[in-house]
Amino acid sequence: MRGDIERILIDEEIIEKRLDVMAAEIERDFPQGNLLVIILLKGALVFAADLLRRVPRQLELECLNVSSYHGGTESSGVVNFLDRSFPEVRGRHVLLLDDILDTGRTLHAVAERLRTEGAEAVHTCVLLAKERPREEEVNADYTGFVIGDEFVVGYGLDYQGRYRNLPFVGVLTLDAIERGGA
Ligand code: IMP
Ligand code: MG
Repeated sequence: MRGDIERILIDEEIIEKRLDVMAAEIERDFPQGNLLVIILLKGALVFAADLLRRVPRQLELECLNVSSYHGGTESSGVVNFLDRSFPEVRGRHVLLLDDILDTGRTLHAVAERLRTEGAEAVHTCVLLAKERPREEEVNADYTGFVIGDEFVVGYGLDYQGRYRNLPFVGVLTLDAIERGGA
């Protein structure tokens, strides 16, 4: 798996230091009580686990399954909600966690849905934000790292379902992309 990585973009130590800062900001910004964190699966799983263990306050957790990439390296443009049910968010302060802000369609669609379902406030937090124009008007309230417009894997991010368990964020070799994650 390590051999499929062309270049490490953000190593484990740098991610950990950044998470300390982000967690302190979240701890500072949210009033006690009523915080509901929603993790977008599967990409934000690793990030959320490491971030939330640094936030020493009462909170509740929910997860949502959405898809937009369908396995390739380009966004499909359609955001699908894959769960049968939607968490109860009425009156809640929601912090939405995702792995990466790319076209912005995912965060935009989920944040809209949360508002429609009656969330009192929706805040967004991503590990990575790609420096590129967004297809939707959306911004992250908390961003770990701004990166260039290239496809990355690791630390939760996948290519065709793989590489999520790499402890760093990296760029795949052309060969690995052409093999399709096999
Ligand atoms: P957006 O809706 O285009 O902003 O894309 C957000 C989703 O696309 C993320 O939650 C990721 O699952 C996926 N994605 C976007 N860029 C990358 C990437 O570079 N590597 C892996 N997944 C990505
Ligand atoms: Mg994904």
